[in-house]
Amino acid sequence: MTNPLDTFQSWFDDAKRHGVHEPSAMALSTVDADGRPSVRMVLLKHADEHGFVFYTNTDSPKADDLRHLPYAALCFYWNPPGRQVRVTGKVEAVTTEEADAYFNSRPYLSRIGAWASKQSQPLDGYAELERAVAATMIQHPRGRMPRPPHWHGYRVVPDVIELWQERPFRLHERAAYKRVGKGWREQALYP
Ligand SMILES: Cc1cc2nc3c(=O)[nH]c(=O)nc-3n(C[C@H](O)[C@H](O)[C@H](O)COP(=O)(O)O)c2cc1C
Repeated sequence: MTNPLDTFQSWFDDAKRHGVHEPSAMALSTVDADGRPSVRMVLLKHADEHGFVFYTNTDSPKADDLRHLPYAALCFYWNPPGRQVRVTGKVEAVTTEEADAYFNSRPYLSRIGAWASKQSQPLDGYAELERAVAATMIQHPRGRMPRPPHWHGYRVVPDVIELWQERPFRLHERAAYKRVGKGWREQALYP
């Protein structure tokens, strides 16, 4: 029986081999308290049998959505080789150890940015952001700094994964995998 997470990994590696720009970019959709969906791109930072991990500002609208409804959908598209992967599942926070380890691995200016950005809040011009970055650099002049309390990782734990492979004349190959116990039930789908 195919494990769609293994296929994801090999498709992801293929996308890199094909030179896809930002193969880790994935659309993340969430739903707010009024049932309205939102979608935005985020970067996949880790994927394994436990799920798909991304990092963000926990005061952002997407994090608000996830507090209200901890479910999300992801969508990757890589072309070439013409493949789409859709994922849905429950979302959980990564451990603080995991978040700290990833934060500490980021370049200095990315860590400064995580401290300086009040993600998705109104900004009074780009100069305001530059001032915030400069002030944060004065506060944390050295390489090491703690992870901001408003910055964390989330893991989408997949319960459905769909693999889509482009074929000529739009006769694309699709298969949906539903998690059943410790395995996956496969169902081919019309394109
Ligand atoms: C290619 C790409 C990758 C992105 N990666 C991230 C990311 O990993 N984390 C993040 O918080 N925002 C990322 N963003 C910005 C988000 O798309 C979005 O603008 C931001 O997170 C605010 O979303 P929200 O207001 O819905 O919470 C990325 C944008 C693009 C275009």
